[in-house]
Amino acid sequence: MTTIALYNIKGGVGKTAGCVNLAYLAAEEGKKVLIWDLDPQGSASFYFSVEAKLKGGIKKLLTGESQLDASIQATEFENLWMLPADFGNRHLDVLVDSTKQSKKKFKSLVGSLQGEFDYLFIDCPPGIGPLSEAIFAAADYVVLPTIPTTLSIRTYEMAQQFFEENQLDPSRLIAFFSMVDIRKNLHNEVIGKYYKHKQFLRNYVPYLSTVEKMGSKLAPVAWFAPSSYAAQCFREVWKELKKKTSA
Ligand SMILES: Nc1ncnc2c1ncn2[C@@H]1O[C@H](COP(=O)(O)OP(=O)(O)O)[C@@H](O)[C@H]1O
Ligand SMILES: [Mg+2]
Repeated sequence: MTTIALYNIKGGVGKTAGCVNLAYLAAEEGKKVLIWDLDPQGSASFYFSVEAKLKGGIKKLLTGESQLDASIQATEFENLWMLPADFGNRHLDVLVDSTKQSKKKFKSLVGSLQGEFDYLFIDCPPGIGPLSEAIFAAADYVVLPTIPTTLSIRTYEMAQQFFEENQLDPSRLIAFFSMVDIRKNLHNEVIGKYYKHKQFLRNYVPYLSTVEKMGSKLAPVAWFAPSSYAAQCFREVWKELKKKTSA
């Protein structure tokens, strides 16, 4: 199982859109895919019309009183399952603390899914804290959707610095540009600068209204608009990410 966490310290950068669409593309290829919605806002759960409730709540999961797989729900899409968000997740940063033991527990929770799925996609909440640290330790790859602006690049650099300081393998940190508006000079400049960066994907997701429509269609773009430019872009990003994460 390959675990890919869609993460950014910032909100509204396309983490959930990336998570939902990339996971769907993997499932479409016949892989068994699980999305774990760790954001208490529950946007990924909402897109898949999955009730945002965990059996017994997140606390029982972390204490081992309940099993993760008991909370896995089927979606209406083939090969795609969901571990829904729970509003109780807002306490996750308290339950998952900075101790090694806590990180280990989270990692073993993720490990308990090993063998059941080909891919685990984690939709992370924004911010940085013990939970993000636990996710960084447990996931194989941390993928940052990044809007090509100076401030967003800084959030990539902060994640990079965190990896360095904690001796985490920098090749596990990958970024791709999202919500790109190529008419904007700044977007063009930033993409030009990072085009050859080792950890940035060449392909990106432009700012497109098709992506926004997911909110009313309640489905990934490749499902409700398979031949759209948006679907095409997500396919290219997935193709490149798949290659990079299977190396
Ligand atoms: N490529 C895109 N083009 C247009 N709108 C987008 C795109 N990606 C995301 N959005 C919209 O922007 C908002 C924030 O995106 P979302 O994926 O939820 O961000 P995050 O999970 O990082 O908070 C959502 O309303 C979503 O529909
Ligand atoms: Mg989100």
